[in-house]
Amino acid sequence: MADAVRGLTREDALALDAADPLAAYRERFVIADPELLYVDGNSLGRRPLATADALQALATTWGEELVGGWESWIAWPATIGDELAPLIGAGPGETLVCDSVTVNLFKLAGAVLATRPGVVVCSPDEFPTDRYVLDALGREVVASAPEAEALRAACAGREVALVVFSAVDYRSGALADMAAVGAAAHELGALVLWDLSHAVGSVEVDLRGTDADLAVGCTYKYLNGGPGAPAFLWVRGGLIDGLTSPIPGWFGAADQFDMGPSYAPAPGVARFLAGTPPMVALAAIRPGVAMLAEAGMPAVAAKGRALTGLAIALHDQWLAPAGFTLGTPRDPWARGAHVALRHPDAWRITRALIERARVVPDFRKPDVVRLGLPALTTSFADVFDACERLRDLVAAGEHERVDPAPRRVT
Ligand SMILES: Cc1ncc(COP(=O)(O)O)c(C=O)c1O
Repeated sequence: MADAVRGLTREDALALDAADPLAAYRERFVIADPELLYVDGNSLGRRPLATADALQALATTWGEELVGGWESWIAWPATIGDELAPLIGAGPGETLVCDSVTVNLFKLAGAVLATRPGVVVCSPDEFPTDRYVLDALGREVVASAPEAEALRAACAGREVALVVFSAVDYRSGALADMAAVGAAAHELGALVLWDLSHAVGSVEVDLRGTDADLAVGCTYKYLNGGPGAPAFLWVRGGLIDGLTSPIPGWFGAADQFDMGPSYAPAPGVARFLAGTPPMVALAAIRPGVAMLAEAGMPAVAAKGRALTGLAIALHDQWLAPAGFTLGTPRDPWARGAHVALRHPDAWRITRALIERARVVPDFRKPDVVRLGLPALTTSFADVFDACERLRDLVAAGEHERVDPAPRRVT
């Protein structure tokens, strides 16, 4: 990279792209407008080219085989769960793809709390849906940052049932030390449940190696599963037998087609299925998962660290002097694949980037312009160009000319 005096140049970014072993993956995604800099793949990932064939194949099976299609479809939540498992350090038969993160969290946390007394621990900065679900489960919720020492301090002398944290914080991008948090939770006698929504497909996750107990996560972000793609859930093998879903649906029953008088859970993680899974949406998850598995998470995570590192270097070079502060850890091993750029006028700046500069990030309250940089679809030149357009836009006061009215989607 360039020396500090000269500063980073676009040639530096192009050199990084030329040396990037994952560069060719971009060609396997739809990039309808090369001039549009899409840095919101941590909200909705780009569409893989192969998704069209996957959806067409599903439509063909539906048309030709009709209800007979269920002979194969019925296994998909578990089959696609197994395809996803290597991305999160899960073993076979431990992961299911179904429902939303919200519903999966309700099912897993509800099942745990039915078997254990004690409080629940969650971060006050946790993604809202997680906080709302945990509040609704009726236990006292103790606030702690997602760090081992904070957890020990918050819970000293308390009986703790369950600890729920995001592995990568949705706003700051901070990556938790999953092994240290898991060890602290277990010292307290609690189980630990990870929300992997911003971690899966962006960093190396080793659920078994870090003694995790349960997990949930999104597939529409870094897994490129499409808008509203079903989420996943994971339960450590060995834990499952004691757990019963609080939504005891027929797809999770041992005797689904016996239509018996009462519910008995299916063996294994399948008991956490509820109603009929959405096959069209499940079909769309496979191409993105397959590409990440092929590329390998070590390489994907390494590129994520490099992309975010470039964004941080450009923040220091251009954006800090323009009034931004960095809201993301500088340690590359302590962050995911998005960067939080904090600015008092972040909302108007985000709108101006979208409306006037052809850069698509998103805004998170109160003051974050969030740049998501998925490794398979983001080039180093994209990062350079997005930061340059951001610098120029703020310098020209373009953000002062946008409508500041709140919008339904931010
Ligand atoms: C960390 C986190 N958890 C949960 C969710 C919500 O997921 P869902 O809408 O699938 O319930 C999101 C959505 O962006 C998220 O970022």
